[in-house]
Parts: sequence; structure tokens; C-alpha cells
Amino acid sequence: MRLLRKQDNQVRVVMTHSAMQFISPLTFQALSGNSVSTELLDAEEENAMGHINLARWADKLVIAPATANIIAKLTHGLADDLLSTLYLATNCPVYIAPAMNHVMWNKAVTQENILRLQTHGVQLIGPESGDQACGEVGFGRMSEASDIVLKLTEESCSDYTLQSKNILISAGPTREFLDPVRYITNRSSGKMGYALAEAALNAGAKVTLISGPVNLTSSDKITRINVETAEQMHHAVLSRADKNDIYIGAAAVADYTPASISLKKIKKQANESTIQLQKTRDILTDVAALKNKPNFIVGFAAETDDLEHYAKNKLKQKKLDMIAANWVGQEQGGFDKDENALQVYWNTGSQCLEMTNKTHLAKQLINLITERVNEKNST
Ligand code: CTP
Repeated sequence: MRLLRKQDNQVRVVMTHSAMQFISPLTFQALSGNSVSTELLDAEEENAMGHINLARWADKLVIAPATANIIAKLTHGLADDLLSTLYLATNCPVYIAPAMNHVMWNKAVTQENILRLQTHGVQLIGPESGDQACGEVGFGRMSEASDIVLKLTEESCSDYTLQSKNILISAGPTREFLDPVRYITNRSSGKMGYALAEAALNAGAKVTLISGPVNLTSSDKITRINVETAEQMHHAVLSRADKNDIYIGAAAVADYTPASISLKKIKKQANESTIQLQKTRDILTDVAALKNKPNFIVGFAAETDDLEHYAKNKLKQKKLDMIAANWVGQEQGGFDKDENALQVYWNTGSQCLEMTNKTHLAKQLINLITERVNEKNST
């Protein structure tokens, strides 16, 4: 837990009743910063379906230590507690780090179970040979925590690699000037776009970030171009789009801009005043219409109502490969918040990314984009 947290991973712990005889859930709650799940039917969970929520949330499931009992249960599809049910309910990669007495490990039935689990795609970490808790020596000792974490991170790099890919990301709001001191803008903080840029960088991509005015810093390894207006953002994106494999339009670009900008400060005069606005150019639509366009184009949709309908319309009308839609104007998530949830649509499917902090959400979205990019490249 400590090593995974040190590497900035979000970790949630599921404990079986046997595990709780050794360690208190409070210990893991304190170490993980998240509540610990122990029961299959959990009245605390909003929909009393903790296993489904956890199954959707996790990028990876690690069972460490894995006893002979849980290995047997997984092999036969038993689901009589939270952990075994979670295993059945998730599609994410599963790892087991067995720990048991060497005779139990070498027993034919355990070996048969391990083999079957491996053919079902479960990845085995260890066990090692050495001193055992029972005082005997032999195979069955759980791998060192550092080896388990190494295996998990090695897999992350090869599973979700964006190595050698160029990614262009636009983030933040734009400012549409009325005069030298006034502008129209929106509540976007840029946090989601910046988190995506960091997640893409961590996945090995070369990232260019076109940023509206925000209060955020970015890694030195990201090429950052600062802009203010929708027109400047349009130019910054369009002039670089053909050199990128992926474009993610996460910016909240103004749809309208004042028809004219006064060179001098507008003076207070009549009781009422009207601002004449004109439409800005749609950056995503123009990128998708380029002859040499990025191979994969992702848009965002911020909606206050009818999310699925509007998001799917934007996916089609803007000719995107994927759209990530979120509710705005609600208490939880959306503009200027640290947390968000996304409903992601593409032509042949959709996925819900549950409410979580934007760093973790960005990682999940980059993984999803990578999967779809790989699928598109292979067809
Ligand atoms: N977008 C863009 N250029 C614009 C306006 C929006 O590229 N001039 C992009 C945004 O970056 C986002 C997507 O379009 O990825 C959807 O933005 P959103 O504000 O949800 O929708 P709009 O297309 O502006 O439509 P509406 O405001 O009517 O919902």
C-alpha cells in the first residue's frame, strides 16, 4: 500500500473476514485515505452494489496475499463474499500473489487451480521460496511488496503505452474582449485538461498543451503554448494539428465573441446597453475537417441536461472518435472542481468513469483513449 501510494496511485482495499482477523480495516483506511470495503451487501453504498462500483473503478485488481482458499474460489467462480464477487464482476487485469504453506502450495489441487486461473488470464506474482510463517522453509512465501509493485507498473507501461505518440491538448477557458479591460469568459479552471496532459506524459507521449488563461503549472516536459482568445486558440491548435497523432479538445472555448472590440475603455452612458456577439469558429470541427488530421480526435461535452443525447450529437456532428461528457452546474464535479465523473461515448460503445479526482479520472480516460487508438490502428 505504501509503495503504491508513493507512486501516486489511488488504492482501495477490500478485506475478507479472515484478513480482518490479522489487521484492522482502520489501518488500511489510514494508509489508503479511502474507506475499506468488507461486505458484499453494503447499506452505506448508494445503490448497495459496492462490488459493481469497485469493479468499474479499478484499473487493476491485486489479491495479496492470495490464500489457497481464495484461489480455489476464483477458479470455480464462487461468489460468496465481496472479494470473490468483485473478481467475477471486473474486466480489469487481475494479479494474485499467493502466500501459503509449501505443502499446501504443492498440493495437486492448488497447482491445478493456479494453472486454470492462468488460462483465464489471471497473472501470477510469485510465490517465492524461503522461511514461512509456519516455521517451515519452501515455496509459498509471498513475493516482496517491491516485486509486486514492480510487476504492476511494468504491466502498466506495456499495456497502456503512448510511447512515440504526439498528443495535442487544449485546456482552460478563453477570454473574449469587449475593450482593453473587460472580457467575457466562463468558469473552466483547466484542471481536467492539465491532468490529461500529465497523464499522457506519464504514458510516454510527447505532449503539446494549448492553454487558455488558468492558474496552473505544468511539467517542464510538456510544450505549453498560452493563448487568451478563442481565435488565438483556434490558430494555435490548427497550426499544429497535422503534426499530432491525437487531439483532445478539453478547453471550454467561447461560442461567441463580441462583434467588435473597442480600442478604448467603453464609458458608462445609457441605462441599458447591448453587446453584439458573433459566433467563433469551432476548433474541433475544423480539426476533424483537415486533410492531414490527427488519427484520433476526442471532444468534451459540458451539459446541464439531456447529457447522452447532446453528447452523441456532438460526437456525430463534429466527426469525433470519442466524446467525454460531463454534467456541469451541479454541486459535485464539473467546472472549477477537483473531482469529476465522465460518460464517455464512441461509435461502437460507451463507458462511465465514476466520480473521482481529476488526476485519476484523466489516467482512466487516457487508458480508454489508448485502447481505442490501438483498436482503430488494428482495423
Ligand atoms: N469546442 C471547440 N470550439 C468551439 C467551441 C467548442 O472546439 N468554438 C469544443 C470544446 O473544446 C469541446 C466540444 O467542442 O471539446 C464541446 O463543447 P461544448 O461547449 O460542450 O459544446 P458546443 O459545441 O460549444 O455546443 P453547445 O455550447 O451548444 O452545447
